[in-house]
Amino acid sequence: MRSGTRPATADTWWLPRAVVALRVRIFEKANGDRAVTLPNATHGPEVFERVYAHPAANGRSAGAGLSDLFWYWLSPGPEVHQEHLEPGERYEDVAATTRRMLAGTSGELMAQATRAVARTLDTVPDGRISQVRLRDLVMPAWAEFCYELVFREPCPPHARDLITAHADDVISALKCTSLRHPGRRARLTEYVRRRVVAGEVPYPLPRTLSLSEQVHYLQGTMFNTAVVQLSEATAHVLLALARHPEAQQRVMDDSEEDRYLTRVLDETMRLYPLFGIAHRITTDEIPLDEDTVLPPGTVVCFSYPGYHATGYDRPDEFDPDRWATLSVKEAHHIPYGIAANRPCPAWRLSPLVLRAAVREVLRRFRLDSTVPHTRSIPHRAPCLLIPHGMPPAPRRLDALRRRMRARNAVEDVTRGVRQLVLGTVMVLHARRRRLAGRYFEEHPPSGCPAGRGRGPGPPPHVPARR
Ligand code: HEM
Repeated sequence: MRSGTRPATADTWWLPRAVVALRVRIFEKANGDRAVTLPNATHGPEVFERVYAHPAANGRSAGAGLSDLFWYWLSPGPEVHQEHLEPGERYEDVAATTRRMLAGTSGELMAQATRAVARTLDTVPDGRISQVRLRDLVMPAWAEFCYELVFREPCPPHARDLITAHADDVISALKCTSLRHPGRRARLTEYVRRRVVAGEVPYPLPRTLSLSEQVHYLQGTMFNTAVVQLSEATAHVLLALARHPEAQQRVMDDSEEDRYLTRVLDETMRLYPLFGIAHRITTDEIPLDEDTVLPPGTVVCFSYPGYHATGYDRPDEFDPDRWATLSVKEAHHIPYGIAANRPCPAWRLSPLVLRAAVREVLRRFRLDSTVPHTRSIPHRAPCLLIPHGMPPAPRRLDALRRRMRARNAVEDVTRGVRQLVLGTVMVLHARRRRLAGRYFEEHPPSGCPAGRGRGPGPPPHVPARR
């Protein structure tokens, strides 16, 4: 263990791991898809890269049982959620609109993020230590930030609360810590609809979409994915700094234009990538090796943690300094996906605004946390915010730290059981509703190759052999 690294006692607790393992199994097996996860014991990072970049690894939703689950989680309007759209005109139209909304100079974007985070931090008392959950702390700030990206005006509290409630609902359901609440999502849909109808979105919205689809697109991409991803990423970086006081100090002392903070961000996203798995549905044969071919209709699950663990010394260790000698372009490092296959449209914006957010938090507080850091952070990252200029009595701080660790250990158990139960309920509910399946029965994807549908085909999980 590197100096400054705190022991993560509850990391060894079996239940959260069992939940994560179960989720991976569900992703692989939902509704009997032919599924393969890369990299695996026989097919390493090179195969991962080749298959991910293969032109036939381009199906997003049609033909996979797994899609029913994702559409359920991201509904409403998952059929126009950018990441679920099949390639084609609608996708291009939507992707171009997103790019326009995310554009801006580095200075403007960073200043906008700093202001949003500062407004949120103004609500935290600066005369005493506060215990917060980092994800909950920063989500309203990112809600305001994304509102401003879309409407180009300051975000009123009412809109911020609607966006936060919805984003929190989606991410909690995705982590199986809560069920979905249709009321929250309907309230935001209604709000966005009113604004779109009133012509208050200062961008042309995708012309290939109906009014209701445009509303769902804005809600899903700009007020859900963007807010959730930025909140999760901020929580990860701040938690990593809270657990590594030396790294935190170095970020504070960094006089070289955020050079060390950039390494911290890269290392955090390497070790805790926001995507556990990104998937594609193959639309043609893809050779896996000399003997094996993936048939069309295979669900390929690309494991980010698996790939990010290959090719590094001590891959399980949080070590920002590894990036002093490694190049992010050459290492196995794809926090925003791969350029050849629909990477994240916010790959430029996100690191800028994350850096601004982290700086604003550290300008006001020292961070301290004793909870374990896992990729899925279902605990929403409990952390102590210690205002600068009021160093706490060591005994008091110790007591707070111990209490945080103990409370989290207890919560881990109840949360783990809850995740298993709620996860099962949602998988079954999604299966009954068949949102994706029914949509594609009514709107068959153009160029749908034979065998892409979920017909009998080869047995699940066994790639066809030549
Ligand atoms: C630190 C923050 C973020 C990380 C680490 C991240 C990561 C990713 C990754 C890995 C993918 C590709 C997954 C795949 O190959 O299927 C992706 C796709 C996507 N991301 Fe992000 N993301 C972040 C922030 C955002 C933000 C702020 C937005 C705002 C709109 C956004 C919107 C999207 C969309 C729409 C896609 C689907 C792209 C497509 O299919 O064309 N992401 N993101």
